[in-house]
Amino acid sequence: MTRQLFVTTALPYANAPFHLGHIMEYIQADIWVRHQRMSGSEVHFVGADDAHGAPIMIAAEKAGITPQQFVAQIAAGRKQYLDGFHIEFDNWHSTDGIENHELSQDIYRKLKAAGFITSKTIEQFYDPVKKMFLPDRYIKGECPKCAAKDQYGDSCEVCSAVYSPTDLIKPYSVLTGATPVMKSSEHFFFKLSDQKCVDFLRTWALQDDRLQSEVANKCKEWLEGDGGLGDWDISRDAPYFGIEIPDQPGKYFYVWLDAPVGYLASLKNYFAKTGRDFDAFMADPMTEQIHFIGKDITYFHTLFWPAMLKFSGYKIPDNVYAHGFVTVSGEKMSKSRGTGISPLRYLDIGMNPEWLRYYFAAKLNAKVEDLDMNPEDFVARVNADLIGKYVNIASRAAGFITKRFDGRLGAADPEAHDLMQTTFAAVAEVKEFYEAREYSKALRRIMEVADHANQYVAQKAPWLIAKDPAREEELHRVCTTALGLFKILSVMLAPVLPQLTKAVASWLNCPIASWDDALVALEENHQIGEYQHLMQRVDIKIFDQLFDSPVPGSVSEAVAAPVTTTAPAPALTTPAATATNAAAIEELAPEITIDDFSRIDLRIARIVNCEQVEGSTKLLRLTLDVGEGRTRNVFSGIKSAYQPEQLIGKFTVMVANLAPRKMKFGISEGMVLAASAEDEKANPGLYILEAWPGAQPGMRVR
Ligand code: MSP
Ligand code: ZN
Repeated sequence: MTRQLFVTTALPYANAPFHLGHIMEYIQADIWVRHQRMSGSEVHFVGADDAHGAPIMIAAEKAGITPQQFVAQIAAGRKQYLDGFHIEFDNWHSTDGIENHELSQDIYRKLKAAGFITSKTIEQFYDPVKKMFLPDRYIKGECPKCAAKDQYGDSCEVCSAVYSPTDLIKPYSVLTGATPVMKSSEHFFFKLSDQKCVDFLRTWALQDDRLQSEVANKCKEWLEGDGGLGDWDISRDAPYFGIEIPDQPGKYFYVWLDAPVGYLASLKNYFAKTGRDFDAFMADPMTEQIHFIGKDITYFHTLFWPAMLKFSGYKIPDNVYAHGFVTVSGEKMSKSRGTGISPLRYLDIGMNPEWLRYYFAAKLNAKVEDLDMNPEDFVARVNADLIGKYVNIASRAAGFITKRFDGRLGAADPEAHDLMQTTFAAVAEVKEFYEAREYSKALRRIMEVADHANQYVAQKAPWLIAKDPAREEELHRVCTTALGLFKILSVMLAPVLPQLTKAVASWLNCPIASWDDALVALEENHQIGEYQHLMQRVDIKIFDQLFDSPVPGSVSEAVAAPVTTTAPAPALTTPAATATNAAAIEELAPEITIDDFSRIDLRIARIVNCEQVEGSTKLLRLTLDVGEGRTRNVFSGIKSAYQPEQLIGKFTVMVANLAPRKMKFGISEGMVLAASAEDEKANPGLYILEAWPGAQPGMRVR
């Protein structure tokens, strides 16, 4: 029976480029999807940008563009990541698309008709200057408990107290600085507390194999905890970037109502392009709907979303699979700060995307566990296992087949019969591990097979056999058997390494596209191509280029030191600075006093937007937020070093009191700081400064 699958990953907020966490989620889902396709399932794998909500509206306003333009810019950057990491969505859409407007409104209407919508007037903080209701995160003030200043409306970062925005002392709007006033407004609620809803969710969530056990347990807690589920506020007042609520002018759906509907909208959009019937597909009881998500958004996907679908008469999700978070060398990556590893930089510096796919797969399991990426571990997995065990087999056997047998395979080695049988058994196990999203187990099993294959080759020692002309046939058999094992290994690795195994298929001149291909032996006399080296090893040094944060003890830090201390000699002679660096750097500028330095006003700037400058080969146009309540336009000669979207959202340092300068393309209102070598021709790197997490736009750098 062919399975019919509708698979999604969470829809990323369209206010920033992808980070490593997104890429991990997509790789996890992509591997599963490829496994399904190899099993003969029909799969429709879709994603979309989550376009709506107050933060995106405000970011667009700051950038001086419409929210539609803002999200379009982000969307334009998605493809290079997805292609770059071989993530094969069938469609990528946006929650601001027409399909989503229609579907969200339809779901709402049906929920309303079924009696699941109520309304209530509630009081909320309102910014009288901006004329908008303030989400909690846009209200700050003094902590009611410890009086720390500038704390958010929900909790205190200093004493960890939790409270509501109305408890804040001297509250102010983050947007305008104005003192918010209480204002009432009618809100619409989805009646999650309805007994029918609670009963449904309990049955849905606790059904065998629907959710991971730890997720099912969480749902149970949510359903049965203090007072059970509360009704869910699904409306927001204008101004809001979102979908209008039918018959309620000035009211919009809260972004989390229309976001998951975006899954359906993307599928519908895709089906329209391919001429398939969306309604029929969704009504088909054979269709399985599966969502891959991160652990932080479980609540939305295991309570709100199934309930919305159920009581509006839509198909309910079959499975929701949650994963943990990516950490980098044991530290948390931050969504808002973009710390850690930039996936684009990973590609730009020439790291192989399949190393990362292999590494993530080697660490992923079906549990909701965090996954740490660290360089030593990465290098060990890739070099020792992927290259040392798998690729190695091909390189040991291929040469003889080409040179001695004209690229033709021989007979199978009867002495390897048992080895072949255990290998076939492993294929069935590995397939089950992929099915269960136990990728680390799958790869461990595959590497066991690779170990056995290597033992076989080592024991037969074809390089010794090759020395004896009388053992020609034996040599042929051994190399043929080794390549046969290599082919089976390649089929098992195909979901993880699509590009590499495609190259193997073309070299071995046989399909590697379905699980059944693992069981098809390469026949005697089968012609293969000439072996080309399949994959390079990782050099751990490349990680120096990958990480965002400065390497402690590097020259840049040493040079900065004399500015803030009275130390007479530059710290360049300390052992931390290597001899080569010390000899190669540009001569120091004449000494200045601290007063000289203080005339230069350096500020933290957030790069709100960055774009190409038409007609310029050197410049990028930056839109900077320096906390002034307006943005600045700055042209910077860094085009050779960065793609515009790599910079959006980053925090850098600018010279804020530099006289504005009229340039061919417009007025530049300052300058951002970047490092470069004196002789840019000989040593062309250009590195923009990035502030450590926590620095805020407008803070002075001194
Ligand atoms: N827009 C919502 C999802 C709407 S789904 C209808 C959202 N967007 S997000 O951009 O913040 O996150 C998208 C996905 O990336 C989520 O599944 C989230 O859990 C995941 N990750 C965000 N940071 C992550 C890590 N550090 N590691 C792994 N996944 C992470 O939430
Ligand atoms: Zn406090």
